[in-house]
Amino acid sequence: MSFTKEIARRRTFGIISHPDAGKTTLTEKLLLFGGAIQEAGAVKSHKIKKGATSDFMEIERQRGISVATSVLAFNYQNKKINILDTPGHKDFAEDTFRTLTAVDSVIVVIDVAKGVEEQTEKLVEVCRMRNIPMIVFINKLDREGKDAFDLLDEVEQKLGLKVCPLSFPIGMGYDFQGIYNLWEQNIRLFSEDNKQRISETLEFKDLAHSDLDKHIGEKAATTLREEIELVTEVYPNFDKQAYADGTLQPVFFGSALNNFGVKELLDCFIEIAPPPRPKASEERLVVPEEEKFSGFVFKIHANMDPKHRDRLAFIKIVSGTFKRNTPYLHVRHNKKLKFSSPNAFFAEKKEIVEESFPGDIVGLHDTGNFKIGDTLTEGEKIHFRGIPSFSPEHFRYINNADPMKSKQLAKGIDQLMDEGVAQLFVLEINNRKAIGTVGALQFEVIQYRLEHEYGASCSYENLNVHKACWVDPEDDTNDEYKEFLRVKSKFLARDKQEQLVYLADSMFSLQMTQQKYPSIRLHATSEF
Ligand code: G4P
Repeated sequence: MSFTKEIARRRTFGIISHPDAGKTTLTEKLLLFGGAIQEAGAVKSHKIKKGATSDFMEIERQRGISVATSVLAFNYQNKKINILDTPGHKDFAEDTFRTLTAVDSVIVVIDVAKGVEEQTEKLVEVCRMRNIPMIVFINKLDREGKDAFDLLDEVEQKLGLKVCPLSFPIGMGYDFQGIYNLWEQNIRLFSEDNKQRISETLEFKDLAHSDLDKHIGEKAATTLREEIELVTEVYPNFDKQAYADGTLQPVFFGSALNNFGVKELLDCFIEIAPPPRPKASEERLVVPEEEKFSGFVFKIHANMDPKHRDRLAFIKIVSGTFKRNTPYLHVRHNKKLKFSSPNAFFAEKKEIVEESFPGDIVGLHDTGNFKIGDTLTEGEKIHFRGIPSFSPEHFRYINNADPMKSKQLAKGIDQLMDEGVAQLFVLEINNRKAIGTVGALQFEVIQYRLEHEYGASCSYENLNVHKACWVDPEDDTNDEYKEFLRVKSKFLARDKQEQLVYLADSMFSLQMTQQKYPSIRLHATSEF
């Protein structure tokens, strides 16, 4: 197959949702349709179970599962589909944000009863800012939930999307009969006795036809006709370009658990979802069809076996063909590296590959060369943008609890930060190290992993910080900036890239500081 055909057939995407909306179930059903797995229950949910937050075996088990499900690839109708795993748990939100830099589109799963939830709002906002094409799947239609129109309103208002329903439910919960597919203009009905089975698919180009009453009953037929009339009046027609530009979002209804509406979603997805998209670098826009290979690291996973402390760096291929045993430039280190056993992912297995194409993810064994955001190329010095750090929510000083192991501790902290587990800040005033995390759970994970993987032990000390803001002065020679550096010296730190960060101890002091020093911009992310 030609290089351009290989690119054109790839669909790399992520499924995002609030925990429990049905992401794992939907992923599994997509794999079942793709023939990549044979039975339900094969994809393990790696969500952190409630109450299990201090059970370290549980955390290790989750890490094991999340390696296995990092990339789930399968072929469907001659398309190569790569699903990138995005943890739903809010403590791992940063992992998800980073993975979103490697997807070409997303599917947003919403629970019909719960509607738009907090985590979905945050993740969709990131996708919206990057104009990532999104399809919305409203799940659990077999349960009583919100009215379909109310939900569509909620999706528009809370998520700031412009929706375009491509399917519509016939009833809901107990009365759920099936789905009208506006995309293919047909109706799929549940079999009455067994809601796991589609009893029939009926072509329905004209809903006015009296046959509709025979199939779903007079009352449901009248309601459906009214609803579809309203849908076509109120919502815009589907426009593939608008979807690809991230300005229009098609919506599907269904029940992942019951296999309902999933095939409709998948069939539409492979037709409309974009192949690998061009990616901006600091220097220029890189297009997938370029002959020369380039890619970037969006995730690093430590080996679970403490005896083999290598890590797996996940690279998204942006352009060209990645080949095994070929020297590539590690741009940040300015040195060439060769990879003898790059991994490709298929369903839940990984295997060594000879070559991979744009859109694909390869896993490279790494002994500490990579950190998140690193670029690999055939020689050109480009830096891919768009993997910012966000201000952590929790901060603590980290102390060495075993003076004999300070080297191990330093190495452990260094590597865990490269993996993106947390962020390290070194205070300007006393050189003390502070760690910032998105969730409180990470502190325990870090302590545990330092001990088990690096033989180091640490203790924490409270640090009263509300937000970390990256400091961006308009003029770094003016008196205002000099005064800021002097007055706020107690609250200044450097991140791992040596960027200056202001650690505000409260929302109030952040606002006051911003007012007092208007020429200094304080950013909530490291990329501005
Ligand atoms: P997540 O990955 O988004 O966190 O959600 P997951 O797929 O694990 O689904 C969360 C719960 O919702 C699961 O139930 C799952 O079976 C259920 N679920 C998913 N899709 C549907 C659906 O279409 N209809 C209904 N009624 N339920 C659905 P659980 O009891 O938490 O777990 P399990 O014991 O069933 O695995």
